[in-house]
Amino acid sequence: QTKFLRNYAPPAYLIEEVALDVHLAPKNARIASKLRMRPNPKMAPGQPLVLDGEDLALERVALDGKDLSPGDYALSDGSLTINSVPAQPFTLEIVTLCDPEANTELSGLYRSRGTYCTQCEPEGFRRITYFIDRPDALAVYTVRIEADRATTPVLLSNGNLIEQGDVAGTDRHFAVWHDPFPKPSYLFALVGGDLASVHDSFTTASGRKVALGIYVKPGKEDRCGWAMESLKRAMRWDEERFGLEYDLDVFNIVAVSDFNMGAMENKGLNIFNDKLVLARPDTASDADYHSIESVIAHEYFHNWTGDRVTCRDWFQLCLKEGLTVFRDQEFTSDVRTGPVERIIDARMLKTHQYPEDAGPLAHPVRPASYIEINNFYTSTVYEKGAEVCRMLQTLLGARPFRKGLDLYFERHDGEAATVENFVDAMADVSGRDLTQFMLWYTQSGTPELACSLDYDPHAKTAKLHVSQVVPPTPGQTSKEPMLIPLKVGLIGANGDELPLKLNGEILTDGLLEVTDREQVFEFHDVPAPPTPSLLRDFSAPVRLTTSLDANQIEFLMMHDSDPFNRWQATQTYAGNLLTAAAREGDVGRATGKEAVRLAQALATAARDDTLRPAYRAETLKLPSESDIARELARNVDTDAVHAAREALRAKIGGSIGDTLAALYDTAGTDAPFSPDPQSAGLRALRLAALDLLAATKAPGGARRAHYREASNMTDAIMALSILSQLQSPVRDDALAHFYARWEDEPLVLDKWFAVQARATRPDSVETVRALLTHPKFSLKNPNRVRALIGSFAQANPSGFNRADGAGYALLAGQALEIDRFNPHVAARLLGAFESWRTLEPGRQRHAKAALEDLAGQSLSTDSYEIVTKTLGDG
Ligand code: ARG
Ligand code: ZN
Repeated sequence: QTKFLRNYAPPAYLIEEVALDVHLAPKNARIASKLRMRPNPKMAPGQPLVLDGEDLALERVALDGKDLSPGDYALSDGSLTINSVPAQPFTLEIVTLCDPEANTELSGLYRSRGTYCTQCEPEGFRRITYFIDRPDALAVYTVRIEADRATTPVLLSNGNLIEQGDVAGTDRHFAVWHDPFPKPSYLFALVGGDLASVHDSFTTASGRKVALGIYVKPGKEDRCGWAMESLKRAMRWDEERFGLEYDLDVFNIVAVSDFNMGAMENKGLNIFNDKLVLARPDTASDADYHSIESVIAHEYFHNWTGDRVTCRDWFQLCLKEGLTVFRDQEFTSDVRTGPVERIIDARMLKTHQYPEDAGPLAHPVRPASYIEINNFYTSTVYEKGAEVCRMLQTLLGARPFRKGLDLYFERHDGEAATVENFVDAMADVSGRDLTQFMLWYTQSGTPELACSLDYDPHAKTAKLHVSQVVPPTPGQTSKEPMLIPLKVGLIGANGDELPLKLNGEILTDGLLEVTDREQVFEFHDVPAPPTPSLLRDFSAPVRLTTSLDANQIEFLMMHDSDPFNRWQATQTYAGNLLTAAAREGDVGRATGKEAVRLAQALATAARDDTLRPAYRAETLKLPSESDIARELARNVDTDAVHAAREALRAKIGGSIGDTLAALYDTAGTDAPFSPDPQSAGLRALRLAALDLLAATKAPGGARRAHYREASNMTDAIMALSILSQLQSPVRDDALAHFYARWEDEPLVLDKWFAVQARATRPDSVETVRALLTHPKFSLKNPNRVRALIGSFAQANPSGFNRADGAGYALLAGQALEIDRFNPHVAARLLGAFESWRTLEPGRQRHAKAALEDLAGQSLSTDSYEIVTKTLGDG
């Protein structure tokens, strides 16, 4: 049952107020809901009232105080229909039971390790009570929670606590929460459990004092500091950058161990996967600190972009997600090193979103149809959606963009809005026609932008020829040309930036607007042949091809004043060597003279004290195996890709070993651990050097990975992942040591599973299979599943794509098992098949067989959609 954006109709009834009375019990929670409702004046009168509901036992329905009998309503699998309701406001009372402990889908109300919690986005509230479970049905909620006092002392919900106490004569207690802001059901949340908490406060710009709380399992209180600091930084930043203040008296965060996604922005009560909250130097790596900071900020920023202004329907998901990712990226750029963050974000987009856009699951940033909305929490909606917001900011300028956002809030605060509402606000403040820009929301596929520069020595002009093609994607065969912001520079022979004279004016920001299929930009008064620097700061999510030769790319590696493009030049240079070697199955192509030149350029950058260590670290990281596979685009042999990359790493490690060793041995080694960005940057630089050194098979290569001497998790996990690649007792000792130390720390043990799943060894399929039977492994815990099976499928390309198909069979088998109890997690794992058509014929056959086998099984809607679309009709 495909749903279509074009079929949107407002709800026939409105819910004004919701009073929930929730009696928590492990196997039968009772939810009494009292809804103040009225017919939607904008809709035809007299329609039946249809409420969504799933896996509920109905005990009572009453209309205006009178019990209805089964003849008055119809119950089906997914709904409760009441045929006749008054044409005036009325009250509906519903009592249902659900089973939190049996809720293995982790959607709705579930109980995980003794803690009750909820996940309602996108359609989980219907698993708690019958409701108009859609984002355009906004209501004010009052929630009374009652539970056993001893086992469930903490009771939380959205908004402010207005009452609490004991239930006289029983061993139960209650709390009443009221959220004054109208919200859709997907932002409802409730938590009950035996939780410890850490508290702080934040005073907003206008002087409101907000109580902040982080709730965790007792014993984990010492791991909340970073999340709390990050929250306060984010709150301040949103005031300063966007003028957005927090609006309730409390802001609570709860960390839970079983969670399908990363985190959830429920109004005033964010619920997090505990891996995105808990951090201590010995248990969390710099990467963990980085993601905690950004996800805490992301969920907090949703308070305005998501909660105060929400989405009209789920097709508009990017309205809140793309915009909120853009905001969290800007935040991270401001509190860390901007250019480094831009590199990280662009790399992430290319690694995850480009393959999605190029594969069978391609969809626009705003999809036009879906079968299961849970399958659309994708990097297209999130990360490409963020790039679309960034392009608006680039095209309009930061100030007009901010004004546009102000206008958007002014117009739509308290409403459920659409992408058009957002873009209209931007158009209105800037006076620009953004019709063509809207194609970024509706056309799928990554635009291909080809640029070449012609220099005319007599006329002293440089002509930049630009052409764009948006490739066909499933369901979209012909495409319109898009509006593409293209930031450029021209660099003179001595490395100076040349002024850009275009149509008699000087282009100060270097921003060209590409609007046609073919376009020429003619720059005047260019004294000598320049080198163009194109798509600076990654100004649009496109695939760029240029006519630059190796010498020009090398020149940009040394001289480009745009830090993003200087980094990109090294990537392009290395990428060209690697794709040639992988395509021809000849590692010699990646280890010749050009490799040595690349190594020298890397050494120069790595030693350059004028550059930040974090930036130098990024420069030392070669394109990943999936980057190379993506560039190859067809007939991919993942073993050849792996061999090429290993050969180049070894060559570089060998050529500039002294520089790398010096960096590894000196850069800030014995300072006490601090997670701040500068210290993390120094560690990143050391470890990037180590990674290349370890690739040399010479004695001492991998042995430099001093696992036992590591004094923090960042160093430890890097050393462990290097040693994990070896076939040697050193590997086994290190893994055994790590296990013995951390076996009772689930989040750390996840790293132990992940490191082994990622290790590229010939027997990695067998290693993963063996770990599936490890006593500490469980298919029921999403983090553990992602650590082992997810890491293997997503981060071990040569293992997952093993030529005999054993990796595919492993993934398909496990996903099928998980699909029986948690379809969301299963469907997500199956995403790993999305690039199967880019592989060489033998691997394609195996992947196809695995997918066809799955298609023949009885699957959840989630997995069915992924499997059938991935197979396609070809
Ligand atoms: N809104 C959450 C976030 O990005 C993600 C929730 C996704 N939930 C899901 N069941 N797909 O912050
Ligand atoms: Zn989000």
